[in-house]
Amino acid sequence: MCAPDAYDLKYEINAWMSLDNRPDVPIANLQWRELHRTLTEVVGVTVDLIPQAPNAPDMVFTANAGLVRGKSVMLSEFRHAERQVEVEHFKAWFERQGFQTILPPAGCKFEGEGDALFAGETLLAGYLKRSDICSHAWLSESLGLPVLSLELVDNRWYHLDTALFVLTPSLIAFYPGAFDDYAQNVIRHNFDTIEVARSEAMQFACNAVVLGKDVVMPAGCPLLVEELARRGYTPHAVELSEFIKSGGAAKCLTLFVGGQ
Ligand code: ARG
Repeated sequence: MCAPDAYDLKYEINAWMSLDNRPDVPIANLQWRELHRTLTEVVGVTVDLIPQAPNAPDMVFTANAGLVRGKSVMLSEFRHAERQVEVEHFKAWFERQGFQTILPPAGCKFEGEGDALFAGETLLAGYLKRSDICSHAWLSESLGLPVLSLELVDNRWYHLDTALFVLTPSLIAFYPGAFDDYAQNVIRHNFDTIEVARSEAMQFACNAVVLGKDVVMPAGCPLLVEELARRGYTPHAVELSEFIKSGGAAKCLTLFVGGQ
């Protein structure tokens, strides 16, 4: 994770961001601390931190930095120049931690765990809005895993992790309206599913961190909370309004690095 020491809204690169509706930075700090506390003290995972670069207000969304597998990280090549400045910092951080860093092929955009999520030994990958589909072939060849390519069709759900999360290798929660018909069929054909209501997808319900039976998710999603509890999960709702203004919530503030 990256503490929001330089977090702000300084440009508009997705449908949620508006320079007329900037985050309240002190409140964002409190919300981030509560998310961090929930992960470390309530769920009990270890969280490593990267310092935020002053010219990278979206660097708090660490999940977009890359995709980690073992001791390798498939680094991102961001669609927007505003975020591409983050890459050198993440690359250096991963190298300091002893990871091998791998860059996407030239001209091929890829936004890390924003658009790529493991379901066991299958990778689910989104494309069109941010990542290019050419990144999927690169991921599949580099990781030696099958990739299910899922087309994102609505600008509000521009990353896969805004519209889908993996509970187990066979159970997925998703908001169908974010995907084209073919992708919806692929998801339903390959997995058991929980369908998230549009009203809760609008609250970033799908941007959830799953750690065993614990699900850390944004506040304001009672239907999903109830469904998860019914299935034996423990939902932990955290208020993340000041990050949703930038188009992100719990999952994109958290990058899985090891021990999942
Ligand atoms: N402002 C950031 C962007 O548009 C937010 C990214 C949040 N990540 C996510 N997976 N929703 O790139």
